This record gives sequence, C-alpha cells and structure tokens, in this order.
Amino acid sequence: MRRHLLLQDLLLILLLVLAVEAKASGPAKSGVTAQVWAKSIIAQMTMEEKADFLCGSSCPLNDALKASASTKEISRLGVRPMVTSDGPAGLRILTLRPTDIETYYTTAFPIGTSLASTWDVDMVGKIGEAFGQELKEYGVDILLGPGVNIHRSPLCGRNFEYYSEDPYVTGNIAAAMINGVQSNGVGTSIKHFAANNQETNRHSINEIISERTMREIYLRGFEIAIKKSHPWTVMSSYNKVDGSFTCERHDLLTDILRDEWGYKGFVMSDWDGGVTGNNRSDVVAQISSGNDLLMPGYDEQREDLLKAMKSGQLKMADVDRALEHILGIVYMSPAQNKYVFSNNPDLKAHAELTRRVGAEGMVLLENRNDALPLPKSSKVALFGSTSYAPITGGLGSGDVYKAYVAPVDKGLKNEGIVLDSNLADYYAAYLCYPYHTSEDYNYINEDQMNFNVDCLNTLAAANDEAVITLGRLSGEGSDRKIDDDFKLKPFERRMIENVLKAFHAVGKKVVVVLNIGGVIEMESWKNEVDAVLLAWQPGQEVGNSIADVLTGKVNPSGKLTMTFPKKYEDTPAAKYFPGEPANDPNVSYYKEGIYVGYRSYDKQNVEPSYEFGYGKSFTDFKYSDLKLSSNHFSKQLTVSVVVTNVGRYAGKEVAQLYLSAPAANLDKPVKELKGFAKTGLLQPGESETLTMTLLPKDLASFYTNQEAWIADKGEYKVLIGASSRDIRLQDKFVLPKRMMVEKVHPAFEK
Ligand code: BGC
Repeated sequence: MRRHLLLQDLLLILLLVLAVEAKASGPAKSGVTAQVWAKSIIAQMTMEEKADFLCGSSCPLNDALKASASTKEISRLGVRPMVTSDGPAGLRILTLRPTDIETYYTTAFPIGTSLASTWDVDMVGKIGEAFGQELKEYGVDILLGPGVNIHRSPLCGRNFEYYSEDPYVTGNIAAAMINGVQSNGVGTSIKHFAANNQETNRHSINEIISERTMREIYLRGFEIAIKKSHPWTVMSSYNKVDGSFTCERHDLLTDILRDEWGYKGFVMSDWDGGVTGNNRSDVVAQISSGNDLLMPGYDEQREDLLKAMKSGQLKMADVDRALEHILGIVYMSPAQNKYVFSNNPDLKAHAELTRRVGAEGMVLLENRNDALPLPKSSKVALFGSTSYAPITGGLGSGDVYKAYVAPVDKGLKNEGIVLDSNLADYYAAYLCYPYHTSEDYNYINEDQMNFNVDCLNTLAAANDEAVITLGRLSGEGSDRKIDDDFKLKPFERRMIENVLKAFHAVGKKVVVVLNIGGVIEMESWKNEVDAVLLAWQPGQEVGNSIADVLTGKVNPSGKLTMTFPKKYEDTPAAKYFPGEPANDPNVSYYKEGIYVGYRSYDKQNVEPSYEFGYGKSFTDFKYSDLKLSSNHFSKQLTVSVVVTNVGRYAGKEVAQLYLSAPAANLDKPVKELKGFAKTGLLQPGESETLTMTLLPKDLASFYTNQEAWIADKGEYKVLIGASSRDIRLQDKFVLPKRMMVEKVHPAFEK
C-alpha cells in the first residue's frame, strides 16, 4: 500500500514539473506529450474548475473578434483559451473592433456546394490552406466547419453550406478542406454530427432513421472525412435521432466515432445543443455519452455539472476523459503555444484563389448552338438584380464579413464585354445592398421587372445577347419554400418569357446565370433559353468568376453533386419533409431510407431534369481504355481510364466511378459513386489517364441484422461515367467469397 502511494506521489510530482515547464514555453515546444500534459493539468484541477472547463465561455480576444465562443482559461495552471469561429464559407469575425480603427476583413470563399461542384480535392485543399491562414493570423484556433450534412431535401435552408446528396463526394471534399485548414496548425469542427438535414424545428426535431440509412448515408461522409483528415473537433447536431438528442447518444459519439472510427479529438455541442429550457440540458447524458464540451456554455450547466460530480451521478472517469480530449487539442493550439498572430493574412492572394475556384465550381447546364462563350466584345443587355448586386453566400453562421463583392456587370466589363448602360442605371435605382436577410433580397425583386415590350425590343435591337441573372438566398433557421423559391417567382418567369420573346424575335440569344445556393425547378423553362450557367454563390469574387466563364477565359468543368428534379414531388423525401405534423413538425420519418438523391431516381426509374454528376463543357471528352487491375477482388482494385479532349477548347473533365453490387439478400441501390478523378487542363487532342482505387468497404453494404458491413460475393459492375446517367465505359470483377468487411457495435433503433 505504502509503496503504491509513493509511486503515485512521484508521478504527480513529475506531472507538476512537466506542467511548470510546459507553462513557460508552451506545451508542444516543451517536449511533453499531449497526453502527459493533459493528465498533469487534470491532476491539479479542482472539481469547480472541471465543471467550468466542460462549458465554453468567452475571452477578451473572442469578444474583440465577435467570434463564436472560446474554451475556458485556467490561468492558475497556464491553460489558455482557444477561440472558435464560424463558418463554412469564410472566417466569420467582426470587421471593426472597439479598440482601434483598423479593419479586419476576411475572405468570402465559395460556398460548400460550389466547392464540392469542382470535384477537385486539390483545389478545395488550397481553399482550406488559405482559410486556415486567415484563422491563424486573426488569432482563431478552431474553425466551426466544414458542414457536411447530406442534401436530403432541396428545401433545406442550409444546403448551401453542405456538399452533396452523396456521402462519398461529401467525405472526400470535406477531407481535402480539413487537411488544408489544419495544415496551418489550426483546427476544424466537422459538423453537424449527425443527420441535421433540416432547419425547421432544428432544435427539437426527432428523426426516425434506420441504422442502415444512418451508416450508409448520413454517417458515411463523416466517416470518410474523419478517417482521412482527423479534424480537431466534431460538432454534434441539434436534432434527435430515434428519440434522443445526438449530443446525448453514446452509440454515436463514443461507440461509432471513437471506438469504430478511431477519433481522437473532442466533441462539442452545437450552440445550445440539447438545451430544453432555462439554459439547462441533460449534462450528465451529454458528458457521459461523449459530448466533451458544452457550447456556448451556461452557468446553469456548470452548476448542474458540479452537482452531478459531487453526487456521483456523473462519474469522474467520464469527466476526466472529456477533459483529456479537450486539453489534448488545447495542447496543439496556437493560443496555448503563444502564437503571435499578425492580423494580416494574405487577403489578396485569397481573393485570386477564390476567383479561380469559384469559376471552377460552376456548372454549365445548357449551351445550345454555342451560345457560350460570349463572342469577344459582345454588346450585352444584363438583366436581374443579382447581376448588379450578386449573392456571395448564404445567411446565418455561414455568412462572412468581406471587404467587397465583385458584381457581374463590372466583371463582364473588365473582360471586354460592352454592357447596355440603360439597364445598369435602371437597376441601380432598385438595389438595396448588402442583404442582411432574405427579405432584403426578395424585396427588390418584387418591384423591379416592369420592362414593357417597347423597351425590351429596343434593348434587343441595340445588343447582341441578353444575360439574365437569377438569385436565391437562404440561411440558418428556416427551410426554403416550394413556391417562389424552389419554383421561379412569377416575375422571374415573366422576365424570362418577355426577354426571350424580344431577343429571339431578332435572332439573338438569351443566357441565364443562376446565382443560387440550392436546387430550383428548371424543367419548365430550361429548354427555352440558349444557355444556363449554374454559378452557385461563389464568394466575394462572384462577378469576376462568372465573367471568366461567360467569356470563355475559364472553360466550365464543374458537375452537379446533387440531382435537379423535374418537379419537387419527385424528390425522395418530398412526402416526409419536414416532418409531422406538417405545419409544426416534431418528428420526421426518413421513410425513403437509403434512397436519397440519385439512389432514388435510379431505383424508381424517375427521369430528373439534371442528374447527379452532370455538367457540360465548351469542349468534348472521349473515354477509353478502361482497365481493372484484376477481374477478381481480394484486398483492393485499381481502375484506370483514359480521357481525351476531342473538342476545340482546352478543358478539364471529371470522371466518375459507380459500382453496381450484386443484390444477394439485400435491397441495394442500382449503383453508387465509389470514386472520382479530375483531369488537368487538357489541350485539344490531349489525353490523361485517371486512376481510382476500390477498397473492401466500397463493395460493402450495411447488414443491420448482423451489425456488419458485408460485401456479397458475385459480380460487381464498374461503370465509368461523365455523369450518373452518362455511362461511357463499363467492366466487371468478381468477389469470389462473401467478405465480412467490418463488424460494428449495435446502434440506433432497429
Ligand atoms: C449553428 C452552427 C454554428 C454555431 C455557432 C449554430 O446555430 O448551427 O453551425 O457553428 O451556431 O455560431
């Protein structure tokens, strides 16, 4: 007994010595490992300090930046506060501070959907690097992003922050972003874990989702990203799954996240996550299930934590484990290591990058008779308020305080396009900018479109083409509507019709540019116009990026990461979204199961307006020489394909690998995306070989009755497509024996 005590004492003394050393130089520099440092701090913390530390708070820097919240400081032990800040499309900090007259702008990067539409992990990685530099140089330790929830319904108000309807694209784009940000020595918070797919009643909605659907669709993107990029933190979501808040689910936050996926960082709640009233949440359930940090942190939660520790309701082992997770990240943070930030990130370089990547994410949906690129020095009648006051990104925590927004009219002028100045003057009278709410934007649109026939005929006579920009703005806290949002507004229809009539009457073309953050209805009008460029909301360089594509300086190479349906009723969750009762739902049944996005359109044989993976180019590509490294699968298989530019313009192509698995005893999607690769800029006549790799889990489906990912034996079809419905080449391989890929913990309701 005595000997045991002595050893413990010695250990404590050693920890104290190390802690003193780490306090002086910053822990990472002192040679002490994160675990030893964290343990040494925990050993010295009082119960009050522990309760305090499990709740977020604010700190002077946080207040100055108006960043989201920080972790707690324990000055007695030399633990410094880490600052966290939103959000997925740029660092959200205030431009002005009370203490000086400087400005602290950040870059509005392209929204998540736009980034994903590049299908270019290298480019997204570069955005991540730039993003991370802004964090580090403004003194922020952790970015509250990326957002990786699945586009279950086109109406979700935050889809613009998220990447795709497909978990494979989502996971790989997110991994690139996280690796890029974290290469600066700052952290990310992948969010919202999990199944935060609607804004309606987001704090309380109870989602009834099968385990297979969770694992194959709503968790898979997180899994891919977390395994490939090790985000410093994970943010749990607001919603419930099968009756419990995600921030209280041990199966999700510990069994799956840590035990199955090997996650090592910490989990924070979303802001007020699990709070049911009076700033109180079930803190015992949260901490013991693995939600390590409560954000933004309330006094009531601290009190409850302390009480629960004292009564033994909350085990000290669970408390210490949560503390160790948080301190393990504090250890690496710039704040703890006394990084002296410059307040001077390279905003100019980041703007240039944004311009390039914004253009790269644009999807050319239609281009009849080579309407685009616009001929050099064209005279253009530019319609639509978003041509003059474009939308850079969505609203809410994903919004950014940027230094400027590049409008489309200026962008086009700079590229040599001659604009009809009458229209610019006309619109100037209506604009109200910036848009603080979606009403700001909607308001201007209501009034402005009173062009009469004579006026349009004059414009058609005086110009070579018409370009119409249509915008959409949505954000946190509410979902989009079908009328006047998913569907065109009456005045938008009128404008398209009238402009078409006037311009087509004199043989001139009409191009539509979509400055939107989510899917809209296009079936009723897409065939009338000559070209449609889906520009998304590509960040602060919006007008320049659009001009680059319209004028052909950049050949569009983006592809859709979601399906555009012919009508809302075709979308797989249409009957169930946003839940029951419809006017104020408290429960949402995910009855479409794993059949989300193209998985549903394929299965139900429903023709979409534009399919997942679709996107045109000014040039054409030929696919050839599909090669599989083997026609039998054992541990992995390599697929290669040659892509050749057979058209007139230099361009890039995204090749997609879909796998069609043998059905065996399980209902499976017709095909699923399991690989993609993008060429470099291919000159006419030039070829590139693209290589993709299939791993066992890519073959597997989740068998709930066996709690396992299993790859069934049989024939697997490899489909190489320019989109999910434009399959250019195919081959097959055989899995000779059923393969148990991974056995997992039972989770969720069955
Ligand atoms: C949002 C999060 C965000 C947090 C902090 C919440 O309302 O859902 O995405 O990171 O606020 O601003």
